[in-house]
Amino acid sequence: MGSRETWATRLGFILAAIGSAVGLGNIWRFPFITAESGGAAFLVVYLLLVAFIGLPVMLVEFVIGRESKQNVVDAFPAIGYGNWKAIGVIGSITGFIILSYYSVVGGWVIQYILGSITGAYTGGAEAYFGQVSSGLNTAGFDLLFILLVAGVVGFGVRDGLERAAKLLVPSVVGLMLFLAVYAATLPGAAEGYAYYLSPNLATLRSDALAILPAAAGQAFFTLSTGVGVMITYGSYLDEDRSLLRDGFVIMLADTCIAVLAGLIVFPVFFAQGIAPGDGGIGATFVSLAGAFTTLPGGRLVGTVFFVILLLAALTSAFSILEVIVSFIIDTTGIARSTATTGSVAGIFVVGLPTAFDLQYLTVYDAIANNVLLLLGGLLLALFAGWVYATDAVTEFSKGLTAPQFVPKLWIWVLRVPVVVVLSYVLSQNIADVIQTIQTSLL
Ligand code: PHE
Ligand code: NA
Repeated sequence: MGSRETWATRLGFILAAIGSAVGLGNIWRFPFITAESGGAAFLVVYLLLVAFIGLPVMLVEFVIGRESKQNVVDAFPAIGYGNWKAIGVIGSITGFIILSYYSVVGGWVIQYILGSITGAYTGGAEAYFGQVSSGLNTAGFDLLFILLVAGVVGFGVRDGLERAAKLLVPSVVGLMLFLAVYAATLPGAAEGYAYYLSPNLATLRSDALAILPAAAGQAFFTLSTGVGVMITYGSYLDEDRSLLRDGFVIMLADTCIAVLAGLIVFPVFFAQGIAPGDGGIGATFVSLAGAFTTLPGGRLVGTVFFVILLLAALTSAFSILEVIVSFIIDTTGIARSTATTGSVAGIFVVGLPTAFDLQYLTVYDAIANNVLLLLGGLLLALFAGWVYATDAVTEFSKGLTAPQFVPKLWIWVLRVPVVVVLSYVLSQNIADVIQTIQTSLL
């Protein structure tokens, strides 16, 4: 069947997985969450969670995908654990909600491309954000973004995804390096770096537990882990590759781009006198747009930057849609085009409230990202650590060149630290979400 293609090249898979990982999470979400959560101390906790909690769960997804060669839901019966199918169902629902508001933010990006070309935000970065982020125009561009995503899906794995990713990843890195160098020349640079990069040990000790919930949500979101994307992408993989090495490369690339985004945004915050943490969900856009207006040739640079951000967002959104569509096809037997059209319509409708009110966006993000995504991660860790462990090690060891103890260590990390941290974080986040709903919507 056409739906089970394989990656044309080894590099193609890595780039597509990086394409999924690198997106609005790195460039939009990471800087403002870091700013809200206190800067450098957050960065430290976040980096630890990415490496020791996020990566191990991402590897679980690769293992399940490669062994089963199936979509997220059928993967579980295919490896002999049909009872754990719920993980796939929860993942698909999570993906659905994420995509509904991710597309709204994607629509902002399209408006920022236009705004860069026309100079619409020159002299009024804040006002422009207000205009872009709620109203009929927001809904319209949200729809446009969703249609673009559906368009990429139409090209399939090789032509659509793989080709786009090959072009994209190097361009994102190149342009961001350029902007980071520019940001370094700003008057606020030193203060920005200090806020972002030098953690105060006392703060770190006292705040680590408080930072954990937001950091864990961001770690899973940024790695595209907990939804089943990496199960789906792993299902196209051969047995002779080291999943550990691939996972490591993907994590490293994603982390570099997030860290780089911070190196751009924080100097700009301070140069513009924006107190980090005050900007909220629009902070990144306001500060970037503000920077472009002061940069010589800023309109051009801004246009290129937002085009690249759009492409990065599209490859991430694509990966989520692919999870949903392959799940619908395999459970209902309907045609790919029908499944795609139906999901896209549903995603648009569900996301509509977030196009009219930023508070809904905050709530959707909290529910999907800080609760459902982490629930998916916790279930994957429990499953792989305690139930699927022996088979998981066998599959993980294929193509592995690391020392013997590594697979066992991986299982033990999943069994205890990952389960403990995620259980704690989930309990915190659930309480938090209830509070957010009460304060912002009721
Ligand atoms: N990782 C993507 C980003 O950072 C978002 C994403 C989340 C993609 C979950 C797939 C699944 O933008
Ligand atoms: Na990411």
